Amino acid sequence: MGSQQLLYTGKAKSLFTTENPDQLLCQFRNDTSAFDGQRIEKLDRKGMVNNYFNAFIMEKLATHGIANHFVKLQSDDSSIVKKLRMIPVECVVRNIAAGSLCRRLGVEAGLELNPPTFEFFLKNDELHDPMVNDSLILTFKWATQEDIDQMKAKAFAVNEVLKKLFQEAGLILVDYKLEFGHFNGQLLLGDEFSPDGCRIWDAATKKVLDKDRFRKEMGDVVEAYEEVAQRLGIKLPEVA
Ligand code: ADP
Ligand code: TMP
Ligand code: ASP
Repeated sequence: MGSQQLLYTGKAKSLFTTENPDQLLCQFRNDTSAFDGQRIEKLDRKGMVNNYFNAFIMEKLATHGIANHFVKLQSDDSSIVKKLRMIPVECVVRNIAAGSLCRRLGVEAGLELNPPTFEFFLKNDELHDPMVNDSLILTFKWATQEDIDQMKAKAFAVNEVLKKLFQEAGLILVDYKLEFGHFNGQLLLGDEFSPDGCRIWDAATKKVLDKDRFRKEMGDVVEAYEEVAQRLGIKLPEVA
């Protein structure tokens, strides 16, 4: 890959330049963070598992017409992606009540949400990712009305594809967070889709198989991610 320069170090991923100015190398690290970076630990194999997990999901979404930044796997823990101008909001879709929705609205965890909900959060760790709405996004020019409409439509289109995919593996896709960005005038899904940014439960037992295991100190975090990967048919390299 030659002359890579570190462009950005986030809580869980690092972005490097590549020889192609339109593309970045995205490295998935073992760092695992909770509560907006207040707790960070290194979990063996997590970067590798999330890299393969994300590649599988992004490729699946692309085959269903949901354009995204993924270009190709580069190594066990890194992928080449299109360099996006990111929109600084997070899009959360929920099929089942959990997490902050229950805390904010006092609804019972596990309640089926019909229709599924959509929320915007501002990407800002210092402010603990406050919830925002279309009006605030427009006023502060974080995105245009067209971006807002497209983010909502694409976030729900992702749900149609992934809810079914997880269901067929005996899993429930409880909720997930997406980030979008611009590339050559097109709005693309960026960042990642992995158990770090969604909630996944076993359909029969409701066993938690996502980053809530880390947040709630339940143990076997990466083992749970690997179980989901295996049930979705994602091939992971053998452990040395
Ligand atoms: P955070 O910044 O929240 O700590 P990460 O550790 O996951 O998160 O860092 C990845 C960063 O890269 C995020 O800020 C995300 O918005 C940004 N990003 C994701 N995909 C792309 C992309 N294709 N082009 C440019 N930036 C991206
Ligand atoms: P929440 O219940 O904490 O609002 O989270 C909803 C979903 O979005 C959950 O799957 C975790 C994910 N998420 C992130 O990945 N990063 C974030 O910064 C936030 C706020 C949520
Ligand atoms: N993704 C956020 C963080 O890394 C919030 C969370 O997952 O709890 O802190």
